[in-house]
Amino acid sequence: MLAYRHAFHAGNHGDVLKHLVLLAVLRHLNLKDKGWRYVDTHAGAGGYSLQGTFARKKAEYVQGISLVRAHASGAPPLVADYLERVREFNGGDALRQYPGSPALAHAMQRPQDQLSLFELHPTDHRVLSSYLGKQAGCEVRMSDGFEGLKSRLPPPTRRGLVLMDPSYELDRDYALVVATVRESLQRFADGTYVVWYPQVSKVQAAQLPKRLRNLTTGAWLHARLTVARPDARGFGMSGSGVFVFNPPHTLHAQLKTVLPWLHGVLKQFDDGGFLLEHKAD
Ligand SMILES: C[S@@+](CC[C@H](N)C(=O)[O-])C[C@H]1O[C@@H](n2cnc3c(N)ncnc32)[C@H](O)[C@@H]1O
Repeated sequence: MLAYRHAFHAGNHGDVLKHLVLLAVLRHLNLKDKGWRYVDTHAGAGGYSLQGTFARKKAEYVQGISLVRAHASGAPPLVADYLERVREFNGGDALRQYPGSPALAHAMQRPQDQLSLFELHPTDHRVLSSYLGKQAGCEVRMSDGFEGLKSRLPPPTRRGLVLMDPSYELDRDYALVVATVRESLQRFADGTYVVWYPQVSKVQAAQLPKRLRNLTTGAWLHARLTVARPDARGFGMSGSGVFVFNPPHTLHAQLKTVLPWLHGVLKQFDDGGFLLEHKAD
């Protein structure tokens, strides 16, 4: 039985980084009329209350989306766009809910685009299903996203984005991410794949970017943001990273401005920092 619930973490610094990158890629896909397919292998509930007992228990959003909103006036354009999506999801200025990755993708979806959303946890699946299950062009499945991805690639239009965002609750997720991306690139080499990972004291997490880099000779981008110290025992998430295969050519320039700004806003101690590396085609 899965214990991880994203509701405890919604809107934290990891979500902010991941959702900024997701929005940038979706915006880029929308520059052309031809439809795209979005596959969210680990979709979560779709959206989260920030007033419920889950989010309030750890209040991680206070050091994530709340801080970003508080600094909105000096925000780079991509961040301003993201804050507008969060505002839209709340139906106004008060921050009561936080949009998950399916909500952001749905906000960008046009009639010609498709969403395939996989979520294994029965409760989160139920919430996601009642939110998006009956929307046009959306499929919501309560099945393994690593497995389900295979039959969704390549998209008929050959335009697509995969978000791979496991909880890494089980260490085997690290190996599954690598194996699934490897196989997916064989099916759909031109797709954009966004893999999120936590910065935690685990050798698998530290090695993941290098293992992903070794899967491709094509273009990639890796962004990492470190904002917190691990606790006294060396546990806890000090930051997170995203590895993007076939990123939009504009993403590197956007993140060059966004990452230093984000680090200044989100850092909880004086060290830390950010990393941005990429290889163009
Ligand atoms: C980090 S959360 C997803 C957050 C979401 N992508 C977002 O950004 O809003 C990971 C989710 O994956 C689900 N999950 C875990 N293993 C899975 C699997 N093999 N297939 C599909 N979902 C899985 C968990 O129940 C959890 O809701």
